[in-house]
Amino acid sequence: MPDVPAPRVSLPAADLARTVVFAAFIAVLGIFPGIYLGGSGVPIVIQNAGPLLAGAILGARRGTASVVLLLALVAIGLPLLSGGRGGLAPFVGPSGGFLFGWIASALVTGLIVQRAERPGLPVLLMATTAGLAVDYAIGIPFLGAYTGDLGAAAVQSLVFLPGDAGKVVAAAVIAAVVHRALPGTLARPAVHGE
Ligand code: BTN
Repeated sequence: MPDVPAPRVSLPAADLARTVVFAAFIAVLGIFPGIYLGGSGVPIVIQNAGPLLAGAILGARRGTASVVLLLALVAIGLPLLSGGRGGLAPFVGPSGGFLFGWIASALVTGLIVQRAERPGLPVLLMATTAGLAVDYAIGIPFLGAYTGDLGAAAVQSLVFLPGDAGKVVAAAVIAAVVHRALPGTLARPAVHGE
């Protein structure tokens, strides 16, 4: 009788563990200090690669949950954002929209990636680019509302593009390597849904 591989069923405990590990990983990215350029008060950070990676590696549900967990820990005061910031102030400051946008980043990236049976680099690049775009779509109008000048907010945000282009590519490449090494990472369990 031929060996039939058993379907990988992801257990709730494993889901939870992955979610928590990824939230911790995004927190670690906050160790890199933010760089304030362009005068908007929004830092250039490495941490926004975290939500892209979370969605691209864990899928929409778990990826989004990891970002929500990270932001909840920040909101209750843990200094997990770049520069050791935490509390509610970052959410109502100039970068608040980008922070809320991280949730949408993970969600959109994950939704695109999990449509593919075996996500390759083109799909992953498309997903991480869309994930970044949705963060901008929330963050820039929020910044515009904060400063009262949407045009200036858009122009000031151009400074993020070179670094974010690199993060989009890096996140897609890393996710491609992970999916190749661990093909079950995005497995959608039949039992309790993705
Ligand atoms: C914070 O730490 O207060 C949130 C920072 C948000 C930074 C945004 S994310 C998209 C864009 N790319 C960057 O490098 N910085 C901004």
